[in-house]
Amino acid sequence: MAETIYKASTTAPVNIAVVKYWGKRDPKLNLPTNSSLSVTLSQADLRTLTTATCSASYQGQEDSLILNGEPSDIKGARTQACLRELRAKRAALEAENPSLPKLSTLPLRIVSENNFPTAAGLASSAAGFAALVRAIADLYELPSSPTELSLIARQGSGSACRSLFGGYVAWRAGERDDGLDSKAVEVAPASHWPSMRALILVVSAAKKGVSSTSGMQQTVATSDLFKGRVANVVPAHMAAMEAAIKDRDFAKFAEVTMKDSNSFHACCADTYPPIYYMNDVSRAAVRAVQAINEAAGKTVAAYTFDAGPNAVIYYLEEDSAPVVGTFYNLLQSTDGWKDEAKSYSSTATQLDETTS
Ligand code: ADP
Ligand code: DP6
Ligand code: CO
Repeated sequence: MAETIYKASTTAPVNIAVVKYWGKRDPKLNLPTNSSLSVTLSQADLRTLTTATCSASYQGQEDSLILNGEPSDIKGARTQACLRELRAKRAALEAENPSLPKLSTLPLRIVSENNFPTAAGLASSAAGFAALVRAIADLYELPSSPTELSLIARQGSGSACRSLFGGYVAWRAGERDDGLDSKAVEVAPASHWPSMRALILVVSAAKKGVSSTSGMQQTVATSDLFKGRVANVVPAHMAAMEAAIKDRDFAKFAEVTMKDSNSFHACCADTYPPIYYMNDVSRAAVRAVQAINEAAGKTVAAYTFDAGPNAVIYYLEEDSAPVVGTFYNLLQSTDGWKDEAKSYSSTATQLDETTS
């Protein structure tokens, strides 16, 4: 008789931080040096699609992960930590309900695809690990809440804990050594400020030279500027950002977003040897945002850059014309600008509406 193949598929969105996570206080448990805050983008534009299967017919084989059509490493400690926790939760369910199939003992096959550049500074690790954890949790029929899953996804990639929620999401750094208080919480649903938009400009789809994991550990080890960021800058930015979101104050939201991106990239430049994620086109995008805001006579656009050259521009729907139209006109006269540079326009997402 053919063995059953158990299967679950899910999608997960990208999130782009407006107060950045950069630095681990515990690399093993993936605990951050500071809290962070992000906006979850619509899955209509950028998303990871992951399918997890397990079957007795896979017995004797190892767990496997196919990422964007290529076999990918699943043995890394961080992926293993996610699989171990999910299996332990399933094993506990099976112990309570002996009639359940013993899925926790079966090899897993995971197939995942990102519909946007991987490892290029567009949060593929965030969408990727959020999808991986939720696909397996669904496969195992775990009764876990998004908060519980965020604790597991955090161990795969820190930023992934925020992609389990829609809208405006904080990752509270927490204080405990076991990391049980280092998790994502919703600050406001997308419906609280539904006109928020993100324009994503893919300056380069190439894999970054320094991964986020390695870059932030070099910064923690060598940057003096970073100490001030953690002690003073981030706490002030977190408080101001939460107030700006609560009050739907775009000018404040934009100022903190741009200052926090500047502070993060300054710490990268202060790393020894320095790390430069932004390039000439990224800097032209910064100037374009300044020009747009000056022309408007108020703040209508905010730039932010993750660990890569690609720009994310936050703006409000009602300002689409001055922001999106002008942005391209300004960049087209930039050296190094490629007409084939791709862009996406995205809305903040209410996760419940879009996830399976
Ligand atoms: P990014 O800026 O895209 O998040 P990172 O350096 O943080 O770049 O992480 C990239 C890594 O995340 C990839 O090399 C891969 O190991 C992992 N990753 C990306 N997408 C997925 C996915 N869909 N499923 C599992 N892992 C993924
Ligand atoms: C600049 O979450 O990718 O995008 O935990 O080592 O996987 P790991 O790092 P990752 O770092 C993201 C850094 C950032 C800022 C952010 O998303 O908050
Ligand atoms: Co990442």
